[in-house]
Amino acid sequence: MTQEVDLKRRKFLTIATGVVGGVGAAHLAVPFVSSWQPSAKAQAAGAPVKVDISKLQEGQMITVEWRGKPVWIVKRTPELLDALPTVRDNLRDPDSAEEQQPKYAVNEHRSIKPEILVLVGVCTHLGCAPLYRPEMSAEDLGADWKGGFFCPCHGSKFDIAGRVYQSVPAPTNLEVPPYRFIDDATVLVGEHPEEFTA
Ligand code: FES
Repeated sequence: MTQEVDLKRRKFLTIATGVVGGVGAAHLAVPFVSSWQPSAKAQAAGAPVKVDISKLQEGQMITVEWRGKPVWIVKRTPELLDALPTVRDNLRDPDSAEEQQPKYAVNEHRSIKPEILVLVGVCTHLGCAPLYRPEMSAEDLGADWKGGFFCPCHGSKFDIAGRVYQSVPAPTNLEVPPYRFIDDATVLVGEHPEEFTA
């Protein structure tokens, strides 16, 4: 009898440990910034997400989660910004005529501050996660590659403002979510600047 209870207890402990391990692994696999974020329930309901960008270096990108989607925040280098006008002729919608961004992001850099780019990291073809490829003339992307995003699923290319290239499957530019700056070091994803909320 004692032996039977021991066996049952051992089985329970094994299952319980397995579940905890599984949760831990799933959590580790999601490379989102977890600090400063509201609860999962509030996020699912669409609560804005406050992001500290004070440590973001030129050329770096961080990913946060907003409304269940990845949102990228990139600090572009002067070299990447200088490249924006040079790729215009190869883009499908270089002037952001389609409604893939709020009004305050209808400009060449598709952002409030030229150096800080905020984009929804979901390919506009079938929803894969494009890769951040900021390097110039990347060997696998061609000598005329000026930095941007590459979707490995079907080969769509976007420039470093998320504008889609011609002759790729993605039909539109990557989406710019609503966002505003609380101060120079803090972005609030999910809320428009005050002057655009009236
Ligand atoms: S999902 Fe990105 S190219 Fe198809």
